[in-house]
Amino acid sequence: AMETGVARKPIKSWAAYERELTERLGIDNRLIMAIRTKAKQDPKRIVFAEANSFRILKAVQFVIREGIAKPILLGNKEKIHELIKENQLDLENVPIIDLYESVSDEKRHHFAKILYEKRKRKGMTYNEAVEKMYNRDYYGSMMVETGEADAFISGFSRKYSSTIRPTLQVIGVKKDFNHIAGMYMLLTKHGPLFLADTTVNMNPSAQTLADTTLLTAAEVRKFNIEPRIALLSYSNFGAYKGEGSPIRVKEAVQLLHEQDPDLIVDGEMQANYALNGKLRYSRYPFNKLGDMDANTLIFPNLSSGNITYKILQALGPYEAIGPILMGMKKPIHILQRDSTVREIINMTAIAVIDAQASSTLED
Ligand code: ACO
Repeated sequence: AMETGVARKPIKSWAAYERELTERLGIDNRLIMAIRTKAKQDPKRIVFAEANSFRILKAVQFVIREGIAKPILLGNKEKIHELIKENQLDLENVPIIDLYESVSDEKRHHFAKILYEKRKRKGMTYNEAVEKMYNRDYYGSMMVETGEADAFISGFSRKYSSTIRPTLQVIGVKKDFNHIAGMYMLLTKHGPLFLADTTVNMNPSAQTLADTTLLTAAEVRKFNIEPRIALLSYSNFGAYKGEGSPIRVKEAVQLLHEQDPDLIVDGEMQANYALNGKLRYSRYPFNKLGDMDANTLIFPNLSSGNITYKILQALGPYEAIGPILMGMKKPIHILQRDSTVREIINMTAIAVIDAQASSTLED
């Protein structure tokens, strides 16, 4: 069905939803409240590449009302106005950029030139670069690249891999890192749990696992939480000797212990030993987490990471925030396809905080 034509159940008020989560479900969601408060202190310009969608517009209305972000909408002007009218959204003063109507030739060529310079030795011709400026993922990333926007959000309506490629080409990977990776934050009864890599690297090498761990540790610290990290597999501390992920994970842990001896990280270990510190300590007293439960889990490959977070999200009650993209030079976030309005709002707050952190680095 077309997104516009479906009857929707009314969205609960934010306050009611929070009460339900904290009281009935017993979820401690103070962290997301803190993230939103932090975003409000210095709201940033977020470009939404998929403003043709009702859910994106609904989320945008909320973040404007709450002062979380200053949205810029990319999409077909007529369609956006139609959705605003039909759903009686209050989005009168939000800038809309329609790539077929509101972009001057001069501007398009200016952006195309920048992209062409980046990609000319990777097989892109100038004409192709001009063509790409009609694609919202390229154009939106280019706005962040040139400082016209502070962060980019896309991915609601298309598959992750096709959305992320343009942003990799335009923005690229942070200095000193060879990889990007995706993280999910789950708010549970036992406090927040961070999971990575849940979205990008299919068969990571030991070095990629180590990089992902370092990116994740830095991200967790952004939320004022000290990461206690377990690298997961199906074996504990060298028990399994055959081929498979335990060996690679063990190698990654060795790299991490050499590169950052103060980081609280160990493995390889099974998930129950990660989450039950007392059990782990009784059997493996030498482990670097001691008897503490891990709050950060690194998966041996994309299959296990992606499947785990989706199962947890489906069986909750958990508040799942993500996927938080790590390792990009600038704040870029690719939503899970068919995200809920609430997920989009949370990711917008995360993107704002990300942009706040990058602007302090530049200062
Ligand atoms: N980190 C950093 N840079 C990367 C990475 C990475 N993990 N992977 C590729 N790149 C770079 C490449 O080096 C290349 O750079 P260059 O063109 O400047 O030389 C550029 O990105 C594009 O490379 P491609 O070859 O087009 O990309 P590739 O085929 O390697 O695909 C992708 C990259 C799309 C991220 C791929 O790894 C992928 O599909 N991952 C799985 C995504 C997925 O399906 N996730 C699960 C669903 S997500 C969810 O559930 C929310």
